[in-house]
Amino acid sequence: MSHEKVEKNIGLMMLLIVIVISFGGLVEIIPLFFLKETTEPVKGLKPYTALQLEGRDVYIREGCYVCHSQMIRPFRAETERYGHYSVAGEFVYDHPFQWGSKRTGPDLARVGGRYSDDWHRVHLINPRDVVPESNMPAYPWLQENLLDEQQTPTKLQAMRTLGVPYTEADIAAAADAVKGKNELDALVAYLQVLGTSIKNRR
Ligand code: HEC
Repeated sequence: MSHEKVEKNIGLMMLLIVIVISFGGLVEIIPLFFLKETTEPVKGLKPYTALQLEGRDVYIREGCYVCHSQMIRPFRAETERYGHYSVAGEFVYDHPFQWGSKRTGPDLARVGGRYSDDWHRVHLINPRDVVPESNMPAYPWLQENLLDEQQTPTKLQAMRTLGVPYTEADIAAAADAVKGKNELDALVAYLQVLGTSIKNRR
């Protein structure tokens, strides 16, 4: 009997188990590649400007994602606190996305526009100056490090390879757009755009 064959042959059994389990996963994953909802940008989503893209790199380098998620789940406790829950179309220009999974600090998916630029500057240089009980690290070096504008056009180009619709003009203007700016300027520009393509906020 064929069933007996499976039970007596552990190799065959393992193979069949793997097929059954991966089928369950693939049924969930494959449609996501074709659903418009997950592959098309939400209305109003713009590629990051050169300065914002540089800021995003600072965010990744400094490991902000270790304490901050960028993913508001569709639960009342989260939407009341942070605003509209995150949707896949907000992240199609994010390579790689910064959803994260650790929330030592608040979620940042919709932090754009919540505070002034000045608040962010003071907060990043020393969080305790604006939030006395904060245990977030200070990042005072960001205002001393100038951006290297030679690198910026190649970063836009790399993003374009991944499908972000930058034009030749965007790439040509990228170096001038960040020239003379420091890492703090860039990081604040990045934080201020987060989550702003969806207007529906608390
Ligand atoms: C060790 C954990 C930790 C790291 C790393 C960290 N943060 Fe924070 N962050 C916090 C905590 C805790 C708070 C809440 C207290 C406060 O506002 O300072 C916070 C608050 C914030 C806020 C205010 C959010 C709000 O809605 O009030 C912003 C913006 C922020 N962090 C940005 C950053 C950025 C950018 C980085 C990386 C350069 C970073 N954080 C790294 C822990 C962290």
